[in-house]
Amino acid sequence: HFGGYVMQRPRLGHISGVPLDQKACDTWEDIWKFQAHPEDVLVAAYPKAGITWMQEIVDMICQEGNNERCRRAPTYDKHPFLEAVAPKPVPSGLQLAENMDPPRILKTHLPVQLLPPSFWDQDCKVIYVARNAKDSMVSYYHFQRMNKGLPDPGDWDTYFSTFLSGNVTWGSWFDHVLGWWDAKDRHQVLYIFYEDMIENTRREIEKVKKFLGKELSEEILEDVYQHTTFHAMSENPMANYSTIPSFVMDHSISPFMRKGIVGDWRNHFTVAQDEIFEKEYGRRMAGTDLTFRTEL
Ligand code: A3P
Repeated sequence: HFGGYVMQRPRLGHISGVPLDQKACDTWEDIWKFQAHPEDVLVAAYPKAGITWMQEIVDMICQEGNNERCRRAPTYDKHPFLEAVAPKPVPSGLQLAENMDPPRILKTHLPVQLLPPSFWDQDCKVIYVARNAKDSMVSYYHFQRMNKGLPDPGDWDTYFSTFLSGNVTWGSWFDHVLGWWDAKDRHQVLYIFYEDMIENTRREIEKVKKFLGKELSEEILEDVYQHTTFHAMSENPMANYSTIPSFVMDHSISPFMRKGIVGDWRNHFTVAQDEIFEKEYGRRMAGTDLTFRTEL
């Protein structure tokens, strides 16, 4: 009965200079006051870094490899997305979180300076996923095309400039990855790279397991791995966002589980764009010891 329904693309507002969905800005005071529990686990990332993949890995570890229990609900219902405010009657991330007993697995795309302070007060464990800027840009472009809950990206050339200038929802990629990189030395933050996950998934699963303080058999770890491959998640309606109505996410424009590789930027960047990008990258990343791989 949603046939023909056209969803309005959202407007962006700003919180402390960071572009965020206007609906999140309108309820910002409540988001900022969110009360974390010490046992909550937060999964954080800039958009399209592979947060859904990490959420499924964390869920499988916490459920000790029971994939039936991991299929209890779609990703967005089982792991409240803190700053998500959907049109009524869909509950907000805050409402979902408040109706769930801790310990909860929570999701956010907030840059570190906008994280509700109770996460730090409670010394919560945070797993941050970072992905190289070029592939993040490509993935975000296709995601904004298919997801009407985000602004229209325009064409690729337009989006290239928009992304580089940081005028996208959740702001600049540079500020995000650098801010969280800095936070890892002061808080319980496990900083994981998408490229490392692709290169050796079992090794990264092991890091997450250790960080969460879990003891799991080799057999269960293998189940975690098998349940969270690109193929398995693509086929899993609870993990692939296919349960969201198509007037919001239109997978025929670009599937949520799109390619899942390192280096797809090569199919999008022109030589001229790559030059502009590299110049800006050098300027913004000068002096940091944070490095990324754009191919394996
Ligand atoms: P692509 O668009 O490059 O394919 P997020 O969950 O943060 O929105 O990130 C989505 C990106 O992670 C998409 O990248 C998606 O394909 C990729 N992804 C999701 N699950 C994955 C998995 N199990 N293995 C590899 N990549 C995965």
